[in-house]
Amino acid sequence: MNIVIGNWKMNPATVAEAKKLAASVENGLMGVDKGRVRVVICPPFVFLPALKHSLHFAALGAQDVAHEEEGAFTGEVSAAQLKEFGVKYVIIGHSERRALGESNELIAKKLNIAFVHKLNIILCVGFGAHKGASAEEVRAILQKQLAAIPQGVELIVAYEPVWAIGTGQPAAAAHAREMLQFIESVVPGAQPIYGGSVDRHNAREFAGVGVSGALVGGASLKSDDFLEIIKAFAA
Ligand code: PGA
Repeated sequence: MNIVIGNWKMNPATVAEAKKLAASVENGLMGVDKGRVRVVICPPFVFLPALKHSLHFAALGAQDVAHEEEGAFTGEVSAAQLKEFGVKYVIIGHSERRALGESNELIAKKLNIAFVHKLNIILCVGFGAHKGASAEEVRAILQKQLAAIPQGVELIVAYEPVWAIGTGQPAAAAHAREMLQFIESVVPGAQPIYGGSVDRHNAREFAGVGVSGALVGGASLKSDDFLEIIKAFAA
């Protein structure tokens, strides 16, 4: 089944706004065929308790998870803590976290922990691939990042070229499809999806070439835009 994931990043500013945004996405989802598309919302950690009871059709996700079970890890949030608040999905290895220094080794630990706790994993790959890099260069970068996946772990892999994130310049649908096919060949059984400037105007194009889902940042903060993207992947 197709999947559309909203990554709210460090937005919105208040819990009232977070609840309002979640409620208006939920309202819009009433008219969407849930048999065709899964929807996940990943708010900042602090809004998880408030949203635990306000999502019904959409599942709750987190934007990160600690690499250890428990203990002295200032600022981290554990998989068990996330689960208590109804979190079903977790984003791991987002390029914005890799840019802060997350290594493939650290990401491998997070993948293990999420797997043990039966969280659905959304692994982001593509960090380090520059615009204009050849398909071969991108494949080499993806190969390294995919090597962090422990054996037997089923997951969603989001191909997110860093130059396409938040820039309004998405990758060409054909390029995305080519890289997703590569991901599928390296990690059989993974569900590859695309992320990077997906919006209400281009979502149909991605869905149309067989991309089976999207990780959406900016456009997930406007319920109308997010719902249009969801409908594109439910068609
Ligand atoms: P964007 O972000 O849709 O704003 O480009 C995507 C992401 O970072 O996951």
